Amino acid sequence: MATKIIFPENFIWGAATSSYQIEGGWDKHGKGESIWDRFSHTPGKIHNGDTGDVANDHYRLWKKDIRIMKQIGLQAYRFSTSWPRILPKGRGKVNQKGLDFYSKLVDGLLEANIIPFVTLYHWDLPQMLQDEGGWEVRSTAEAFVEYTEAISKSLGDRVKNWITHNEPAVVAWAGNDSGEHAPGFKDLAKGVPVSHHLLLSHGWAVPIIRQHSPNSEVGITLNVGWRVPASNSSADLNAVREGDGKWTRWFTDPLYGRGYPADVVADFERQDTMPNSMSFIQNGDMKAISVPLDFLGVNYYNREVLRSGASDNGPQVVFSKPKTPENWTEMGWENYPEGLTGVLSRLYFDYKPLKMYVTENGASYSTPPDENNRVKDDLRIDYYRTHIAAVHRAIQAGVPMAGYFAWSLMDNFEWAKGYAQRFGLVWVDFETQKRILKDSAKWYRNVIRKNGF
Ligand code: FCB
Repeated sequence: MATKIIFPENFIWGAATSSYQIEGGWDKHGKGESIWDRFSHTPGKIHNGDTGDVANDHYRLWKKDIRIMKQIGLQAYRFSTSWPRILPKGRGKVNQKGLDFYSKLVDGLLEANIIPFVTLYHWDLPQMLQDEGGWEVRSTAEAFVEYTEAISKSLGDRVKNWITHNEPAVVAWAGNDSGEHAPGFKDLAKGVPVSHHLLLSHGWAVPIIRQHSPNSEVGITLNVGWRVPASNSSADLNAVREGDGKWTRWFTDPLYGRGYPADVVADFERQDTMPNSMSFIQNGDMKAISVPLDFLGVNYYNREVLRSGASDNGPQVVFSKPKTPENWTEMGWENYPEGLTGVLSRLYFDYKPLKMYVTENGASYSTPPDENNRVKDDLRIDYYRTHIAAVHRAIQAGVPMAGYFAWSLMDNFEWAKGYAQRFGLVWVDFETQKRILKDSAKWYRNVIRKNGF
């Protein structure tokens, strides 16, 4: 590559994981059951019957994992805390052992000179709260405040970067509308109030974090894909409006003080399942949700070329290029770096967040270790190189990017796809828990050292 790409000083390079995907120890030391424990223990829900019972055994091996982060030279590490590890019943009595685990992890990171970025909710709701209605009911948002209190009181002196929720759209729609994720409902009428209570809990949590963690920065992480129409037909253009409305604007608009987008409310009402026209919104909710944030986190993976559905199953993602490993990652997601520049620019120029991070970006390729235990994952390196260059182009366009987190530090439990999809910079042998730095990890180490390439 001829041109040099150098990032602004203070740009932060990190990698991300989440509690259920790596910790294991699902019932250790007083941890309560989460909806992902329940879901993965239900036959037929997860590819190959995989579960997160052991996963990367990070609950035991966290010191080793910090050493690996140091080897890669990470400046920051984004992880999530498990709500049922801290409040086994979702509210009420705190499990001190759960808090201690995260407290030690944070100390270990700081000692290694790695900045902790803590996500409070990366999908592992306490099952006991689900039994009372989960995010569909307002009391779960109230319980989230209790959980936020407990964790921010305990870590707030040392953790200065907080993310309330990871991808509320996926929680609402994959968990409650399409049903591929826990708790597995297929009901838009549940998904819509779920989305509202997620956003509300975010709005309520932000001031609590600020109270217990002075001089910290607080944000939220959204998944934002790049959607384009398969043709110029009005049906395809409408499919893009609809997809963007449901997956992006439904969240960004209220977060930035614009309320729920009217066109999407109309889409939902047309589907006839809408519970009593948004009656779950109470006075003051929209104000709480639009609390000013210090940053916006963006997870980006792919582009979707949309063709309007023949039935009311919604639009289809069509393949615009030949399916080669370069064009399609093993998740079946299109590799389209330009979309990342597009997404970052669009979010900034539309909503003007004070600053932004890419909180996740990466690719699933299962390239195994060769006979010398080397993982030559060139396709992943190409994916990272082109996407990091795309972040740089957004910076040149004026977008205030503050950092980039690779997804993921290591191969892990990829939700409904189990262990079949490998996103790691580090190879994990799930039988032996051996970790091997892939070529991409070594490549990323150089990017961090040079602050670019
Ligand atoms: C995102 C999730 C993350 C991981 C990646 C591949 O939607 O936030 O946990 O599964 O996808």
